[in-house]
Order: sequence, then C-alpha cells, then structure tokens
Amino acid sequence: MDAGRPTLAIVVGPKGRGSNMRAIIEACNAGEVSAEVAAVVSPKDGTPAVQFAREANVPVHIVDPGSPSFASAFLRAVGQADLVCLAGYLRLLPAAVVAALKGRIINIHPALLPAFGGPGMFGMHVHEAVIAAGAKKSGCTVHYVTESYDEGEPILQLKCDLAPGETPETLARKVLELEHRAYPAAINIVLGLK
Ligand code: GRF
Repeated sequence: MDAGRPTLAIVVGPKGRGSNMRAIIEACNAGEVSAEVAAVVSPKDGTPAVQFAREANVPVHIVDPGSPSFASAFLRAVGQADLVCLAGYLRLLPAAVVAALKGRIINIHPALLPAFGGPGMFGMHVHEAVIAAGAKKSGCTVHYVTESYDEGEPILQLKCDLAPGETPETLARKVLELEHRAYPAAINIVLGLK
C-alpha cells in the first residue's frame, strides 16, 4: 500500500456486475485518480466484481447484509478508508453505518437526481421511468449517502440527450458510459485531488 495516497473502499451489489468498481480501479491504476482501492466489500462471493477485484489484488470482504452484526462487520471491512464508494449496492445502510461514515460515503445513481430516485428506482426501472415520463435528458448523479434512498447532496452529474426511439436498453448503455467517467471524477472532487 502506498502510504501517501488516500484510500478507497468500494461496495458492490449482490449481482456484482462491477463495471463502476472496475472503472474506479482502472482510473487509480492509470493515475487518473491518485488514490488506492484498499478494499472491495460484497454481500456475495463469486460475482464478476469479486473475481475482478481478487485478480487485481484488491482485498475482498464478504459481508452478509442479513446478519445481525452487519453494521460492525461492514465498518470493519471498509476500515480506515478515506472514502467509501457504493457501486451497485442497493439496500439502505444501517443508521449507525451512515453516522460513522458521515461525509465520506458516496453513491452513484443512473439518473439526474432528484428526479427518478427513491425506493424502487434501480436498474432498468429507472430508465423505463425516464422514457415513460418523456424526459429529454438523463444521466447519472454521484451523491453523498444518507439514511434515505438517493437523497444526499449531489457531487457531480453528467448528462446525455435522449435520442428519438431511445429504449431503456439503449439509454442504460449510454448512462453507464457516463457513470464510468463520473465516478472517478467525483472521487477527485471529494478528495480534493484535481
Ligand atoms: C449502476 O447503474 C449504478 O448507477 C447503480 O447500480 C449500477 C451498478 O452497475 N447504483 P455496476 O455493477 O457498477 O456495473
């Protein structure tokens, strides 16, 4: 571990596609973000995200959100990381975790919050709702995490136009590309790195 660089913990979800996690690890390796990914936390073993993290020599911690000791296990797993980045983790975190990490825990959402956020707004549901509402633009938002879904202060948004005939699938691909640029940029903003 490089003692001079701030450290990140990335928290992935149970499906663990892990594309944002990968984008962050690669941005750190390329020097675009002068930080080090010190831990990946996952609710499940064996996902693509977990495999990628292990191959990249990032320590992986499997923490079960259903366990009564989840809050303390989660805090142990993220350790002393300067910033905790949720990337695909869909549940609300316990109040004790949010309080302990206040100001150093962020999330990415695949829409322009405060629109199209809140309970049930995840994955394809978000893009379906954006199209159904006739929105002209969508994008992604990196924001601080609070005890409520998608309500923390925004840090960075990147936007795209909806094309005629846009489908949830085409929009999802477009927004995901933006996410991979937005997350490293937001980490730089929060850590004051660039
Ligand atoms: C992303 O769309 C992110 O906005 C949302 O969950 C998805 C995670 O995708 N919070 P991936 O696992 O990073 O590929």
